[in-house]
Amino acid sequence: MKNTKIIAVANQKGGVAKTTTAINTGVALAIRGRKVLLIDFDPQESLSQFFGCYAAEKNIAGLMYNVINKRDCNISEYIVHNEVNKIDFIPSELNAMNKLEKDLISVRSKETVLKRAFAKGKEIIEKYDYVIIDCLASLNVMLDNALTAADHVLIPCQASPMSFGALPNLILQVKEIQEELNDSLSILGIVTTMYSRTNICKNTKEMIDNTYGELVFKTYIEQMSAVAESPMKEKAVVLSSAQRNRVSAQYKELATEIEERA
Ligand SMILES: Nc1ncnc2c1ncn2[C@@H]1O[C@H](COP(=O)(O)OP(=O)(O)O)[C@@H](O)[C@H]1O
Ligand SMILES: [Mg+2]
Repeated sequence: MKNTKIIAVANQKGGVAKTTTAINTGVALAIRGRKVLLIDFDPQESLSQFFGCYAAEKNIAGLMYNVINKRDCNISEYIVHNEVNKIDFIPSELNAMNKLEKDLISVRSKETVLKRAFAKGKEIIEKYDYVIIDCLASLNVMLDNALTAADHVLIPCQASPMSFGALPNLILQVKEIQEELNDSLSILGIVTTMYSRTNICKNTKEMIDNTYGELVFKTYIEQMSAVAESPMKEKAVVLSSAQRNRVSAQYKELATEIEERA
């Protein structure tokens, strides 16, 4: 893809703010005038449901089955526009995603299916500046697909020791995909999420900064109840203009750093 940057938001741990980061950086980039396509790549459908979309018939797994079954398809039929957040996305669907994960076992070049789906829809994909893939909490073949299709990996890491401890395995998998399937893949950066002024958070943030240095974004995201409440409003926190909403400003800053790096 010529000018389109494909970013996988990945971490094999659940609840570290992957979906929140995908949505808010995506909407923040859109506010900055970028054309953004979000991909819900998690069977849990969290991103789709955030935008009020449940059990979508036209979903990312269906798009990938077209590649497997060598069927022609129009990728634009899979893209949903969300007017409140002014953003496009391709939804996920629980059953189709779970079936696909199992079926991939017997598919040749099973890690490249998503990449080939994007290539098939190249003309549409290239209209976007950023494609942001909200990955599932796993290191399985589905994650391999996201990492093979992507140019960059954005890693949210919760400011907790458990989350910090999960990073080496993820980085190892990124390296393996780089070596075996996608030599243009790079780690865009690690962003510390759900930070609060507790000793445990401070210590973990220090460990992340000291261990990963330049890889870590300057911006970190604080813990704030407005974020946890945002799915009820189906509205990204970055669209809040409340002065006290620091997370809104932080995700906008993160979007600026992302633009500098990719
Ligand atoms: N900065 C934050 N402050 C407070 N709650 C947050 C923050 N970021 C995420 N959350 C909440 O934490 C939970 C997990 O976040 P989510 O983005 O779904 O993680 P993941 O996609 O990695 O599983 C969600 O309920 C979300 O609303
Ligand atoms: Mg998620």
